[in-house]
Amino acid sequence: MIDFNHVTLEYPVTRTLALEDLTMQVARGEFIYLVGHSGAGKSSFMNLVLKRALPTRGEVRIAGEPLSRYRGRRTPLLRRRIGTVFQDNLLLHHLNAYDNVAFSLRVIGVPQREWPQRVTTALRTVGLEHKKQALPLQLSLGEQQRVAIARAIVSNPPLLLADEPTGNLDHENSREVLKILQNVNLRGTTVVVATHARELVETFRHRTLTLRKGRLVRDDPDGGYSL
Ligand SMILES: Nc1ncnc2c1ncn2[C@@H]1O[C@H](COP(=O)(O)OP(=O)(O)OP(=O)(O)O)[C@@H](O)[C@H]1O
Ligand SMILES: [Mg+2]
Repeated sequence: MIDFNHVTLEYPVTRTLALEDLTMQVARGEFIYLVGHSGAGKSSFMNLVLKRALPTRGEVRIAGEPLSRYRGRRTPLLRRRIGTVFQDNLLLHHLNAYDNVAFSLRVIGVPQREWPQRVTTALRTVGLEHKKQALPLQLSLGEQQRVAIARAIVSNPPLLLADEPTGNLDHENSREVLKILQNVNLRGTTVVVATHARELVETFRHRTLTLRKGRLVRDDPDGGYSL
């Protein structure tokens, strides 16, 4: 699903070397963690997958297709196939939970008659069917993050990227979010989670890639956290 072939990313202007000669693959249906200290390159990895940054050297392929082929108007097509969940979930504050999730479907042009069933299913997946009408401010942070997950999965993306999805959450909510991401994965979505949350990585074990200063220093098929 994700294929990095000797990828180096040096950000223009600042010339920061964010990733260096990274070669790795993530198979369809995998669940992986990306761990590493602050500045190790985790978000840069996500930026490359989403084509928000371009490799300085090397090639990134998603589902077999080189990202260099997604030019101009095709770039949104790539992003449509990738669900994203970030630390600050940026829900639209004037829309309730239902409408925040439905918004994803509107953006990608799904016919309105399909919305109720799809939004309801996504909200059910994250355990928030009963909070459909609530505005983000009427939800706890954990609930808001679950709405953000529903928004990311309602389009049934083959790939889900989660960058510090539990960064603002307490222990219980973090575990809840992790369980939801695992369930999404069990239904066939490939999931990549960048995280600092050692306890989660050790509890819910999955293949774990460790970055250090932009280099891949560990690829542990059985997981575990060692920085
Ligand atoms: N847009 C950017 N322009 C220039 N340099 C950047 C940019 N984004 C990140 N960097 C630099 O690239 C390096 C890798 O940053 P990145 O955000 O990928 O780290 P990270 O592993 O996600 O860290 P954190 O755990 O703090 O989120 C850092 O040195 C950072 O300062
Ligand atoms: Mg980051």
